[in-house]
Amino acid sequence: MRRIRVKFANLDIEFTDRDRAIEQVIEWGEKGTWHPIVIYGPEGCGKSTLLRQAAAILRELGYEVFYLDPLGYVFDADVLLPDVKRAFMEFVERALAENALGRIAWAIFDFVNKVLSVRRGKIAVIADDVFQVIGVDKAAAYVKGLLNMIEHPQYNYENMVVLVATSEGLSREEIGRHRWAELMPMWNMPKKGFQHLYGEIPGNKPPFEDVWKLTGGNPDKLAELYRSNWRVEDVMRKLMNDKYLTADIVRKWRDWLEEAVEDPDKLWGRGAPEDLLRWLIERNLIIYNMHYRERQFWVDEPPPERDLELGIGRYIAWQTPLHREAVKLALEEYRV
Ligand SMILES: Nc1ncnc2c1ncn2[C@@H]1O[C@H](COP(=O)(O)OP(=O)(O)OP(=O)(O)O)[C@@H](O)[C@H]1O
Ligand SMILES: [Mg+2]
Repeated sequence: MRRIRVKFANLDIEFTDRDRAIEQVIEWGEKGTWHPIVIYGPEGCGKSTLLRQAAAILRELGYEVFYLDPLGYVFDADVLLPDVKRAFMEFVERALAENALGRIAWAIFDFVNKVLSVRRGKIAVIADDVFQVIGVDKAAAYVKGLLNMIEHPQYNYENMVVLVATSEGLSREEIGRHRWAELMPMWNMPKKGFQHLYGEIPGNKPPFEDVWKLTGGNPDKLAELYRSNWRVEDVMRKLMNDKYLTADIVRKWRDWLEEAVEDPDKLWGRGAPEDLLRWLIERNLIIYNMHYRERQFWVDEPPPERDLELGIGRYIAWQTPLHREAVKLALEEYRV
């Protein structure tokens, strides 16, 4: 299976590791997905990159592929009929001109029908972060539309694969209320693959073990450390600011946060305030209610059951150790 080229920091490298995820995509390609698969996981863990790799795999397996990445302004219809492709691209152009990105996401149902009305083929719809443009409150309705497309198609098809990724913490809850999608978590990279990625970075760098303990295998955080010339404190401080870890937030929830930086499971089953949990989920600081670690529930390899050094609890995990460190920094900074 061809591995795509990936832009990683200022490097141009090959899609690294994720061997099991690649096998899973091939299996979906062979059998079709019977539900839309909604992939969620820590920010920057590699969801979008995996979707791009999946699109390439499915093309190789003979799929006609619609690919939507509204946040990256990338839309593509790799379909056999030139007329449908042209119509899709024109539609995209008009919607972009009117700044109506969500409209493209909703139009996908029509375009899939157009393809199938002519030819009973293999169709894949790959949608990255669509919920951010259609609105999280419509995530479930959108997923239901995708499920209908699979279960009650207007025209017959040979096989269909629907993959959606979301980096919007709250969309999981919205989608999870129904059984219209298969929600699958994906974690940061496994150690061995991550070490390979680390090896691609030129120049002087801290020892691998140090980088692993800071990033927990998150490729985006690795790129950020590299970009900042390995000034770890800068990266933490930036994260602290980006996440709005302000003096008032710290004052309001200090006791809970102090426990959580030691062990995130301290926020589980002990009556932690709902608005604190919501805030942590919405800010993409934690993953709440982690799935069982059995492999069948996960895209690629599941994280360890518990690894407090990496901030991973049985039920709750910091998205990366750096996320936890940003909270620690705020706790120190705003000590009264
Ligand atoms: N398997 C991989 N091989 C090489 N580089 C990767 C891989 N996965 C991710 N990356 C790199 O890591 C960075 C983050 O990946 P990506 O954007 O796919 O994450 P994401 O989970 O979609 O993030 P977000 O939550 O922000 O949407 C990118 O620069 C990407 O090139
Ligand atoms: Mg992404």
